[in-house]
This record gives sequence, C-alpha cells and structure tokens, in this order.
Amino acid sequence: MSQKKLKFNSKTIHGGQKPDKAYGAVMPPIYQTSTFAQTTPGGHQGFEYSRSGNPTRSALENSLASIESGNYGLAFGSGLAAMDAVIKLLSPGDEVISTNDLYGGSYRIFKQIFEKYGIVFHFVGMQNVAEIEKKINTKTRLIWVETPTNPMMNIIDIKAVSKLAQKHNVLLAVDNTFATPYLQRPLEMGADIVMHSATKYLGGHSDVVLGALVVKDKELADQLYFIQNASGAVCGPMDSFLVLRGIKTLHVRMQRHCENGRAIAEYLQNHPKIEKVYWPGLESHPNHAVAKEQMNDFGGMISFIPKGASYNDAIKIVENLNVFTLAESLGGVESLAGHPASMTHASIPKEEREKSGVVDSLIRLSVGIEDASDLIEDLEQAIG
Ligand SMILES: Cc1ncc(COP(=O)(O)O)c(C=O)c1O
Repeated sequence: MSQKKLKFNSKTIHGGQKPDKAYGAVMPPIYQTSTFAQTTPGGHQGFEYSRSGNPTRSALENSLASIESGNYGLAFGSGLAAMDAVIKLLSPGDEVISTNDLYGGSYRIFKQIFEKYGIVFHFVGMQNVAEIEKKINTKTRLIWVETPTNPMMNIIDIKAVSKLAQKHNVLLAVDNTFATPYLQRPLEMGADIVMHSATKYLGGHSDVVLGALVVKDKELADQLYFIQNASGAVCGPMDSFLVLRGIKTLHVRMQRHCENGRAIAEYLQNHPKIEKVYWPGLESHPNHAVAKEQMNDFGGMISFIPKGASYNDAIKIVENLNVFTLAESLGGVESLAGHPASMTHASIPKEEREKSGVVDSLIRLSVGIEDASDLIEDLEQAIG
C-alpha cells in the first residue's frame, strides 16, 4: 500500500520510514557522526556533513512530513530555532501578523530579536478573522497562528485564516505544538507552514528539546533548507532518534491525554472554588464550535482560575500538587502544572499579558496519561 494512503495511526509508525539499508535495522540507527567518507570529492552516499544532512535526522524529517500531510520536513535544535528559520524568510520592512495570545518565547523572539532587524510585528485577537484583515497591507508577508493558544486555549479558525492569506498572497504558518497532527493538520486546511516544538507531544517523554517545520511546496522547502543549513540550528542524531521514537506512540498517548483532559476539565468546571476553566472541549468555551469543526478531539492542555485567588494563592496551589510536577513545558506522559505569569509568560509585560487574559492567578495544566482519578485527587487536595 502506498504510504500516502495510510491512516494517521499507521503513519505515526511507518510514515516516511524504510528499514535501514546497511543491516535492515527496523528503527533508524543513531548515526552519531559529524561527517561521511567520500570515495572522490563529491562521491558520497547522500550525506556529506551532519549540519547539511544526517540519516537519523532525515528519517525524522520524513516522518514529520508524513504525519503532518506535507511533502518536506525540517528538524531543528528547538521549536524556537524552527521559528527563527521561518522569520529569516523575511526582509527588513516586511510585516507579520501574529496571534496576541501566544507562547512567551515566541513573543520574545519576534519583539526582542527580529524587530531589531526591521521586521514589523502586529499582535491581534485572531478569533475574529476580520481583525487580521484590518492589519494586512502591501508589506504583510506572513500570518503566524498558534491554536489552541498558550495558555488561554483560544481557537483560531485555520481554514478562514488560510482563505484570507491566499486572497492577499501572504504565507500562513501555524504553530501546531498544542494540538499535534493527531488533533488537527493545518496543511490540509490551507496553511503553508506547520511548526512544532517537538519537545512537547511529538517527543512526548520530556527527554529532548527539538523543533520542526513541515511544508508542501518545494520552493518554500528549498528556501527553508537553505536557512537550516546556512544558519545551522540543527538537532543532533540522538535527539532526532528520540523524537522519531516518540512519534510512533503519538496517537495512543494523545487519545489518553484527551480522555484525561476531559475528565479534569469537567471536574474543575463543577468545582465550587474554581472561577473559570479554559478547555476547548467544554461547550461553554467561546470557540467550542470552531474547535469541534477543525479538531478531532480537544487535547490535554487546560488553564483555570481559582475563585478570588491572588498571585500568591495560585503559586501555593501549584506548589501543593504532588502527582502533577511544577515545571515549565508540556506534552509529556507525566502531568505538569505551571503558573504562566511567573513562568512561561514572564517575558511578556504584565499589561500585555493581562490584555489577553493571562492574569496573575491563572494556572496551566498539561494533563498527562496517568490514572485520571489520581490526578483529580491531587487537584482536590491542592485546591483545598
Ligand atoms: C506553543 C509553543 N511554541 C513554541 C515553543 C518553543 O519551543 P522550544 O521550547 O522547543 O524552543 C513552545 C515551548 O514551550 C511552545 O509551547
């Protein structure tokens, strides 16, 4: 059967993969080498230097392309290194329209690195697509979408934004870290670039930092490959192997993340001491209809606000958790809890973050794949 015809749950295991040529190893070996012997200058077997290409990284890149329904995958040393490569497609004077509620590190690279080089960023609430169109002008080159957003779980209508991007001949990139291709595949909805912090669900075991891009178009892939090689922010063979291994169980892990996510979102929603719960699977979520349309399920990321809580009350709750670990990051098999105002979003000025709802008492959970009743019991004792 052609690999393109495989269903998603088979692509995670087989997509883009062939047994290794040397000994038929079923898992691609970790080619821990910086360089490759040549028989004559230029006489090599497809790889010459591991920044330009490495067989383990290529195996991962092929898998990434397959699971995201793209044609080309590119793997980087981190999610931010992957984003860095996308922005390097642009020139001084070019403009980018981005989600106003996005990962703090994404905001920081836009504002504190690329603004210095003359690239202009606009941050808008993209739940209303008309807000994006208001900012489009002749200098707009890229729309940057994150959905669900981090940490407010807003949902942006990828198909509607992609129609707008095509109408104005602007590239559309989607950070698919929270959803993963198990839940939504932006390239199938008209996006040009999918980006991942593969550190999260794709790796899935909190043991690696890695970033990825996937595209369909050859010319765009060539430009990004040029940047990947010329700037050099590649990932190593061992890290490539770990993410490749993680992807093989993505579908089963995601299924449990979603089930546990629902159990915890419903528990929090019915808790008398909880003011607000942000999870796109709840009917009360303002973008639930769009989420239902574009996602296969709703994931394991949840944010909530305890009633009448201060900055310190929220910190006390996350400190009191025992099964949830207080830590940055998300998407691993273990449940994590975080306090965005002092952790992931501390690099965004207070007025800016509060405008998008990231208040001092907001708590974010990355719900893992443990027994849901243990997680609920843990929350119960911490909320008090
Ligand atoms: C949504 C999102 N995008 C990008 C990144 C950056 O990825 P990395 O930490 O792998 O550089 C993160 C990291 O938390 C993230 O949550």
